[in-house]
Amino acid sequence: MTWYSGLEAICRPDVPLREHTWYKLGGPARWFFEPRDDAEVAAVVARCREHGVKWRVLGLGANVLVSDRGFDGAVVRLTGAHFEEFRLDDPTVLANAGVDFTKLVRRACGRGLGGLENLAGIPGTLGGIVRMNAGGRYGEVCQFVRAVRVLEADGRIVVRPADAVGFAYRRTNLAGCVVLGATLELEPGEPAALLARYREIWNNKYETQPPVSERTAGCVFKNPPGRSAGALLDQAGLKGARRGAAEISPKHANFIVAHAGASAQDVLDLIALARERVWQHAGIDLQPEVELW
Ligand code: EPU
Repeated sequence: MTWYSGLEAICRPDVPLREHTWYKLGGPARWFFEPRDDAEVAAVVARCREHGVKWRVLGLGANVLVSDRGFDGAVVRLTGAHFEEFRLDDPTVLANAGVDFTKLVRRACGRGLGGLENLAGIPGTLGGIVRMNAGGRYGEVCQFVRAVRVLEADGRIVVRPADAVGFAYRRTNLAGCVVLGATLELEPGEPAALLARYREIWNNKYETQPPVSERTAGCVFKNPPGRSAGALLDQAGLKGARRGAAEISPKHANFIVAHAGASAQDVLDLIALARERVWQHAGIDLQPEVELW
């Protein structure tokens, strides 16, 4: 008997998380669950709670740094037919948590549904994007979210209206919950114009940020109120700083690039160095935006 008996079909032990993160770093998850529907997610989380097993939800792993030791608990990944389902109904979009956000943005543009093109180039699953209220210079996802389907901490599955999600800069009040899906409301637009705007934002990012082919987890630190973390890191002389095979991007100082041979510890060492330097230089204690597992 295992603590997850009855759920064996959706569980694999000791799965290397480096295969599931953009950083391609870090050790294994002790257990890796891929539930096929909402009820299975609820069952996995309930069992974790019952047995005191730590758990985390993984999307595309685009904003996560897994330690070299790995994660000594259960990682839940929402993938497969149910979780990757979405429906574009002018002006409403219904999408489940495992949907690739980039794919959704492009499909919405192509169907003449506008708004999300402003979030071009943000990698992640819809669940991860909503959970952290991802965004950039031209907007954040909360502008479009009308409701979120959530597995609550008490095990109930409810649909919360957007104003009950606590959306703020890169924040929600969904810690301890699982985002299962969301309803977005978009605006009609001309597909060609929406796709042109999408490409424009993408190109703008490409010019100012390391390319997606480099191993990063996007911006490492949140912008402190009214300030730019990238500019603060840059002014503290951190561009090009290295620890092992990890480097603060010479292109944008709020990105840490993992070069061949880097360990998660190299990245963690650079995060510590960067925080220390900005504290000394500007008296600001930067807060990580990347999730550290
Ligand atoms: N800057 C520097 N040096 C640097 C980096 C930036 O001087 O090394 C300056 C820029 O010249 C600019 C200012 O800092 O004047 C702001 O930089 P940028 O326009 O690149 O935006 P950002 O605030 O650093 C935010 C999001 C990004 C998002 C971009 C573009 C945060 C922490 N970052 O970056 O999101 O892609 O806007 O929309 O909110 C992410 O969340 O992972 C992320 C990368």
